[in-house]
Formats: sequence, C-alpha cells, structure tokens
Amino acid sequence: MDDRIVTNEKLEEDKYEDIRPSFLDEYIGQSEVKENISIFIKSAKMREDALDHVLLYGPPGLGKTTLANIIANELGSNIRTASGPAIEKSGDLAAILSTLEPNDVLFIDEIHRIPKYIEEILYSAMEDFYLDIVIGNDGSSRSIRIDLPKFTLVGATTRAGDLSSPLRDRFGIICKLNYYTEDELFLIAKRTSKVLGVDICDEAAHELARRSRGTPRICNRLFKRVRDFALVYGKSSIDEEIVNMALDKLKVDKIGLDETDYNLLISIIEKFNGGPVGIDAIASSIGEEAGTIEDVYEPYLLQNGFLKRTSRGRVVTDKTYEYLNIEK
Ligand SMILES: Nc1ncnc2c1ncn2[C@@H]1O[C@H](COP(=O)(O)OP(=O)(O)OP(=O)(O)O)[C@@H](O)[C@H]1O
Ligand SMILES: [Mg+2]
Repeated sequence: MDDRIVTNEKLEEDKYEDIRPSFLDEYIGQSEVKENISIFIKSAKMREDALDHVLLYGPPGLGKTTLANIIANELGSNIRTASGPAIEKSGDLAAILSTLEPNDVLFIDEIHRIPKYIEEILYSAMEDFYLDIVIGNDGSSRSIRIDLPKFTLVGATTRAGDLSSPLRDRFGIICKLNYYTEDELFLIAKRTSKVLGVDICDEAAHELARRSRGTPRICNRLFKRVRDFALVYGKSSIDEEIVNMALDKLKVDKIGLDETDYNLLISIIEKFNGGPVGIDAIASSIGEEAGTIEDVYEPYLLQNGFLKRTSRGRVVTDKTYEYLNIEK
C-alpha cells in the first residue's frame, strides 16, 4: 500500500505512539461494548476466574487491538500477542499456549486467518483448557495431553463472516465495534492534542472529526499531518483554517473521502454504468486489491449509503450521483 493519508493500514509510526488509551475510562465511544466488558471483567475478578473468551470485530482502525490491551490491563493480567497469518504450524500455536499463566490474556489478531487445521487446536484449548500434541512420527507417534491454565482468548477480526462457526461459538463474549460519531472523534482529537502537547481549537477538532471516516486511527493520523502543517506555517496551535488547508492538500474531502473512494465510485458509474458490478472487476479497474476494497474502503461507503451490495454485485446510489454531481 502506498502512503495515502486515509489508509487504514497500520504504519510504522503507530507502533511507537503513546496515543493508545490504556484503561477503559480513557477509551472513548463504543459505550455499549465498554459497559458490557466492564461488567464481565468485574465479575471475573470477583469470581477470581479467567474472563470468558472475547471476540472483537469491526473495520480496521476502530480500536480492537487497543481494547484487547485494555482488557488485560483492567484484569491486571499479562497479555501475549499473536497474529493469525503468522501461525503457520500447529507447533507455533502450541508453543504460545504452553507459555500461558493463569488468567493471562492471549490476543490473536486477524484470527480469521489461522489455517483451519490449526484452528482445531484452539477448540480444546478454549473449551476444556488442554492441548493434545503428537510426538514422534508415523509408526511410533503418540499424542500427549498438556493441561493449560485457564486463560482468556481475545480474538480480533475485520471479517467475522470468515470465522468458522465452531470457533465463533467458543467465544462467550462477542463485541462489534462501530464507526465513531463526530462527537466521539472530536473527543479523540482533543485527547490526542493533550497527549502530543499540541493545542487544537474546538472548531478545528470538529472539522478534523468530520473528515476522519468514523475512524480513530485516521483521526490520529490526520491530526499529526495537520500538526506538521501548523508547525511549518508557524502556527502555535491548530485552528480551522490550517485543518482545512492541510486536509485539502491531502485530498481528504469534507466527509473524509479520499482519491481512492472517488476513483472507486466514479469508476462504477463510468465503466459499469452504476453497477451492479463484482468486486474483482472494480478492483482491477482501479488497480486495488479486492480484499483492501472490502476491508478498508467499502464498509464506510456502504455505511454512508454511497454504495449498496446486491446479490449481483455493488451498485452506486442516487446519493452518490448527487454527491459527485454527476447526471444519472
Ligand atoms: N476508543 C478509542 N479512544 C481513543 N483512541 C482510540 C480508540 N480506539 C482506537 N483509538 C486509537 O486509534 C488507533 C487505532 O486503534 P487500533 O490499533 O486498536 O485499531 P484496530 O481495530 O486494532 O485496527 P486493525 O483492524 O487495523 O488492527 C490506536 O492507536 C488508538 O490510539
Ligand atoms: Mg489491530
């Protein structure tokens, strides 16, 4: 992926940031999810038991990894982190599981990408807290059973639909993260301003929030780019003028759509007569990967009524023609 500003991909800079909230009361928005999780954590602590397994799903950048870390912090437990695509052999997963201590949190990011035959190892680990491993080879192989301590698996995925049902059924707590409202993103921008020590006025924070695609990661990233403009233009704090100037230069429009969104919508209109058109055809017409469109671009366009999914493919809506000022 290139260095587009509205990308949802994690960039190097995110790894070093301390913008991430560490406890539930600093985590803005998602109030239902927060309330429920807070009850379940309290109950687990009162019972002196591990928290039930948690599945977090929703589009990229909405705070799944952040929430997984918060859950561990609130429980006062250690967190071990693994990523679905990095688990290639059953031994990889067995190795991680066998290091767990009682009430630890095991966070598996992109859990839908664990190969199916490895996934089965998780079933017994999650349900009955044991691990069967096969040692030796062909003729003389035997399996030994290792007991595991009670632990909490926190799985994150952008695609809950890709999860097999036996795996999904083993999560006792399933939380869907939604896009954030403008007011919530406003609070996130204000919080980031405090953490980074860069002032932003309320109007500017609202403007930033409106252009952040409902996504905290994008809000934080845009904040940093706007800060760069403010710094270089000699402004001691971020005002509305500098936000507008910076985001216009970065080609992020009034509601957060970027060039790829425009390409995508215009291409459906011009090359496919408004649709219906399959995702692969759209992907090749704009030179993007189908998976990226499905995970990153489409959810926001669907949510905002610019795009509809039908059994025969994607179609643009009247709103799209109106917004782009194109005659139908
Ligand atoms: N509720 C929130 N309050 C404040 N900041 C948040 C919140 N949620 C997310 N953030 C910020 O947004 C950034 C992205 O969040 P995070 O990495 O947790 O997203 P994610 O859902 O795991 O994304 P991905 O699907 O790409 O892994 C974090 O660095 C964090 O600073
Ligand atoms: Mg994440």
